[in-house]
Amino acid sequence: MILAEDVLTPGGRFLMPKGTTLDHGHLKSLQAWNLNAVSVADEAPPPPVAEGRGEGADAAEEAAVAVVRERLCRLDREHEAGEVLWRLALERETRRRLAGDAQAAGQEGAVPGRPEEVPPPLSSPETLLRDEPQLVSPPEVYLRINDVLRDPKSTVEDAAESIRHDPSLAAKLLRLVNSSFYARTLRAVRGRFPAKVDSLSRAVMVVGARQLATLALGVSVLPLFQDIPPHWVNMRVFWEHSVGCAAAAQAIAAATSRGNPETAFVAGLLHDIGRIIFFKQASTHMAAAMRQAAADRDPLYRAERDLLGFDHAVLGGHLLQKWQFPANLEKMVRYHHDLDEPLFIDEPAVIHLADCVATAMGWGASGNRHAPPLNPAAWQALGLTGEGLARLVPAMEARLAETMHSFFPDREGPP
Ligand SMILES: [Fe+2]
Ligand SMILES: [Fe+2]
Repeated sequence: MILAEDVLTPGGRFLMPKGTTLDHGHLKSLQAWNLNAVSVADEAPPPPVAEGRGEGADAAEEAAVAVVRERLCRLDREHEAGEVLWRLALERETRRRLAGDAQAAGQEGAVPGRPEEVPPPLSSPETLLRDEPQLVSPPEVYLRINDVLRDPKSTVEDAAESIRHDPSLAAKLLRLVNSSFYARTLRAVRGRFPAKVDSLSRAVMVVGARQLATLALGVSVLPLFQDIPPHWVNMRVFWEHSVGCAAAAQAIAAATSRGNPETAFVAGLLHDIGRIIFFKQASTHMAAAMRQAAADRDPLYRAERDLLGFDHAVLGGHLLQKWQFPANLEKMVRYHHDLDEPLFIDEPAVIHLADCVATAMGWGASGNRHAPPLNPAAWQALGLTGEGLARLVPAMEARLAETMHSFFPDREGPP
């Protein structure tokens, strides 16, 4: 049985997300809350990979195993999270093949051929950012929103007002707020609001002024990152990875109480923007880094460190610091591949795991052919279990689909 709707406790506290496949443990927990009736989906769950087979199913599973084995080669399958991600990724890849999804394979893009001489490593992130005039300052609307966010005396109306001047941004935010992630809040305030949040002032009431402003900051800078040459990486596929990481980060932050879910969403959305700058400004280095990562079956950030001198996470962190993003958001981006500094482990661990999940599940791609290894200390810091992660993934995937639909209603072009 699969839950057709989110389940709340009688007191309105969120208990289980829509899409959860109910097992014995879930049923016991529902009983404990005296919840004797929940709404379940009419459809049967997709058949398990090993059952209901024909020749096509065998071929689909064989192809899926090959893809997942390669993509997850750096993820420890003995670890509880690695085991869950292996299983879920395999199920997803098999389903996509059985459904004839033409995009099921190869969205990581081709490894650049024709080696050229690799220039010496770059001097510093600052120099690279100086050479990109478009990134010298963030958009006007960003500055207005940031003023509101930094002023402790700012009001709900100030937050709404700062966003209202940019109708396209306002429309995207309203679509984000009218989503399943906020369904429980929307239900909890039912009676005070119509089912759909149709104004920014109401959106502020649902999400909170600071949280809506944080979402607005992140979404307002996206138009600056649209123009990677398509032979590097398809922008839609790149943003699918970013939105997948954002959806995963939001769910992980909410489930583990590590950081604010909206800050985690924005950090996930922007976690790989440094790579867009690399693709544009250091294309010869990146071609060599992609070849090296493919040959070594290693995540791309390690080859970036080797050949460019620093990785995209450090570059992204510098840019967010320069633009005066909230410090914790900047650190989540800067340290998502570098959790050696214990001071920063908690919030960056959310993005680290979210990136692992998004890459392992094949939700888009940002140039990486291999999922990054999961840092065991990060996993421990988050306090999740394998079963807990498995329960979150369907809700993350639903949020990804919904957000991609908001950002790409016609399936074309970047957000
Ligand atoms: Fe990354
Ligand atoms: Fe990533």
